[in-house]
Amino acid sequence: DKAIQIALLGFGTVGTGVVKVLESNADDIMKKVGAAIVLKKILVQSANKARKVATGAKIVTDIESIVNDQDIQIVVEVMGGEKPAKDYILQALRAGKHVVTANKDVVAKHGKELFEAAEASHVDFLFEASVGGGIPIIRPLKQCLAANRISEIMGIVNGTTNYMLTKMTKEHMDFATVLAEAQAKGYAEADPTADVGGFDAARKIAILASIAFGARVTLDDVYVEGITNIAIQDIEYARELGYVVKLLAIGKQDDQGINVRVHPALLPNSHPLAAVNDVFNAIFVKGDAVGETMFYGRGAGELPTASAVTADIIDVARDIRHGVSSRILCTCFEKKAICPVGT
Ligand code: NAP
Ligand code: HSE
Repeated sequence: DKAIQIALLGFGTVGTGVVKVLESNADDIMKKVGAAIVLKKILVQSANKARKVATGAKIVTDIESIVNDQDIQIVVEVMGGEKPAKDYILQALRAGKHVVTANKDVVAKHGKELFEAAEASHVDFLFEASVGGGIPIIRPLKQCLAANRISEIMGIVNGTTNYMLTKMTKEHMDFATVLAEAQAKGYAEADPTADVGGFDAARKIAILASIAFGARVTLDDVYVEGITNIAIQDIEYARELGYVVKLLAIGKQDDQGINVRVHPALLPNSHPLAAVNDVFNAIFVKGDAVGETMFYGRGAGELPTASAVTADIIDVARDIRHGVSSRILCTCFEKKAICPVGT
């Protein structure tokens, strides 16, 4: 069948991973989709920068050459940040292109507007990689657990800080050194304040809570405390008492409303989340029918994140082939009562 042509916005850690996965698994992907996926163009900031992987795609620096290209059906945004990513996504959606993104900043802040734009253009807008890196969590919440009333979603959703806390605990490494390591491994955000300040986790729990609770939960609704005040001494003291320090993201829903928060917590060594180390994330979801479920895997990094992004591309490509859509409706984003932390 006719190849499906796509464009990447961004050729950094995640973009490189997507190029690698599309290339190395091309034959299997073609069988699964029923058509080849061809990467036609990649938007970058610096056209002359050396890239980690070779590609036949054309490197461009203007969004118009992508949104005005009638052959490109899927735009994959992996550049990050709010601006100009949000505008580029909107331009692509309004031009009738399906969009896949790994960008929690734009989904958490502008999700409603982007969903409405996708709906108006009858195209898909998928964002599996925006939470949990390679862990399947958005699609399970939207689809596999859709029959449940979800009362709680809780876990470790930032790979950088979990990597840092693990190294600080096990190797007694200092904060600055271990943050630099996480950055070198490609785990951290362009501005790592988002990771260590808890905002990345806050954006992720806002997205998860929105879907899980059928509500519109924004960053402003989330109590946020990061790990910047955690010193080696705190970790040592916790260890002496049989605890580990973890940065938790927690969303709860009861009859009073919704409570969403991110903060460091002391977990006893016996707690399942205490054993989640390095870049791994783990997310518990509690539903009235299913009971407790747990999702676990690498929460950041080139190939794990590319796994989720490429799966979204495959899903959209299948939709294109079959003339259907896997959009979720904007009604999942109605405002509900938010309870202050401590209530
Ligand atoms: P990154 O390594 O910093 O790469 C960003 C890429 O976007 C670069 O190729 C850069 O171009 C390009 N870019 C940035 N601003 C641009 C602009 N204004 N115009 C054109 N191109 C621009 O970022 P990343 O780690 O791949 O993360 C990308 C997104 O994925 C973010 O939303 C992040 O939150 C999300 N994410 C990342 C991970 C992870 O493990 N890294 C995991 C899950 C989700 P140049 O190369 O020319 O500078
Ligand atoms: N900076 C993020 C993290 C990337 O460390 O979890 C994955 O979303």
